[in-house]
Amino acid sequence: MTASKDAGPYEPGHATRHLARVSLTVVDHPLAGHLLLALRDRNTPATLFRSLTKRLTTVLILEATKDLPTRERTVMTPLEEATGLALKQPLVVVPILRAGLGMLDAVVELFPVVRVGYLGLERDEATYQPSEYYAKLPEMQDATTFVLDPMLATGGSANAALDSVKKAGARSVRMVSVVSAPEGVASLQRAHPDVDVVTASVDRALNADAYIIPGLGDFGDRLFGTQPDA
Ligand code: PRP
Ligand code: URA
Repeated sequence: MTASKDAGPYEPGHATRHLARVSLTVVDHPLAGHLLLALRDRNTPATLFRSLTKRLTTVLILEATKDLPTRERTVMTPLEEATGLALKQPLVVVPILRAGLGMLDAVVELFPVVRVGYLGLERDEATYQPSEYYAKLPEMQDATTFVLDPMLATGGSANAALDSVKKAGARSVRMVSVVSAPEGVASLQRAHPDVDVVTASVDRALNADAYIIPGLGDFGDRLFGTQPDA
């Protein structure tokens, strides 16, 4: 992972950029690229799509958590004392329903004591505006909160989710997505300049239907096998 401070155009495949006050990390690990390409493949069936999502989320979360605050702790090994680092703060993860559910297991397996909240958001097919149909959020004030949504397209859903978690008390928040559009990243940076974004790719653009291109299609439909021609 490399870091640069220039604010030039997005180049998919390039690593960490710090634009304005927000950090955008495009994870360029070869395994992330390999898994993402398989997710993009229209011939990938739902069963494989689910396991690819989980494995790619593991890579993304390792990146998104690499600078979590820690504190020193000492334990006794069978031989002598050993001092190391333990996580300092609780963690909260909030998948955005539906598609964010595909990313949840990876986080819970890496951090079994994580608190889990849920936000249900649906994007209107004509206006692309999200509407919230469900919210159940834990205590977040003392924690680092990770919002999960595989697709950051217009940014409407992510911004609405970030509004909700902040209103519920979240103070340190990070957004983890699989594929992002430049439009969505810019919108999030305007609305939530304090939120760092970790993604596997910033793709070329949005098409006229606000789908990410090249993208991978409708993530929720592919994850749950509900696409019309399945
Ligand atoms: C998809 C996706 C995001 C949203 C992204 O959800 O999972 O939540 O669209 O688009 P945006 O950045 O333009 O808001 P969708 O509304 O299709 O619901 P689903 O997850 O239930 O399929
Ligand atoms: N939601 C998706 O699932 N895919 C897109 O490309 C855009 C929004």
